[in-house]
Amino acid sequence: MGINGQFFSAIIPAAGSGDRLGASIPKALVVINGKTLIQRSVESLFPHVDEIIIAAPKDFELEISGLFSGSDKVKVISGGAARSKSVAAALSQVNENADFILVHDAARCFATQAQTMRVINALLEGDHAVVPGIEVIDTIKVIDSNNFAESTPLRSSLRAIQTPQGFSARILHRAHQSGNDATDDAALVEALGIPVRVVAGEPNAHKITTPEDLEWANRLVETNE
Ligand code: CTP
Ligand code: MG
Repeated sequence: MGINGQFFSAIIPAAGSGDRLGASIPKALVVINGKTLIQRSVESLFPHVDEIIIAAPKDFELEISGLFSGSDKVKVISGGAARSKSVAAALSQVNENADFILVHDAARCFATQAQTMRVINALLEGDHAVVPGIEVIDTIKVIDSNNFAESTPLRSSLRAIQTPQGFSARILHRAHQSGNDATDDAALVEALGIPVRVVAGEPNAHKITTPEDLEWANRLVETNE
């Protein structure tokens, strides 16, 4: 049993192909300074959770489980065709006694353990859904299908949302019962009318998406590792 006698489970959706990155291998297996994105993402959760379930790209399950052969905390399953399907597939394998479940993108491989702990602490304090977020720099506009601006939300009320996101286990199971697709899990929880707490995020928990992001990542480790 983990923190405060609560069982913490973690899911890492890592089954994406990384089309926008354009590498010849799935994004989770791309290496930055000798370590894959998926290994780095696991490290930001590992000491704080009781199990980690990775949704792997089809045909890369063995390669990914080989990276974690030293730990029986980590389990690898096959992901699905969309992010939500990969999370749902992993969710079906979560320990039935889990109290809380964290969901963390493999692509946010520089999120720190401190970020994980901010999410966990908010859950232990009684929130049922917790996401890290940072202030946005650009002005964000809602546009219509013809590329005309419809509205401009007040920038100070906007946050760019990251992972790990944390949930009471029963709420995440309920949220995924809809089978709906969403770019994050909190959106499915919001659709149930359940409050989602936003805690401080961190700039380096940025999602590695494009070749420019990978260059940024390599520069970051050059200075820090
Ligand atoms: N993901 C997943 N299963 C999918 C699609 C995405 O598990 N079918 C995961 C990715 O592996 C990633 C996270 O969801 O860790 C966020 O997705 P994204 O950054 O969009 O990664 P990809 O889908 O791989 O990238 P792209 O959209 O450029 O193809
Ligand atoms: Mg994607």
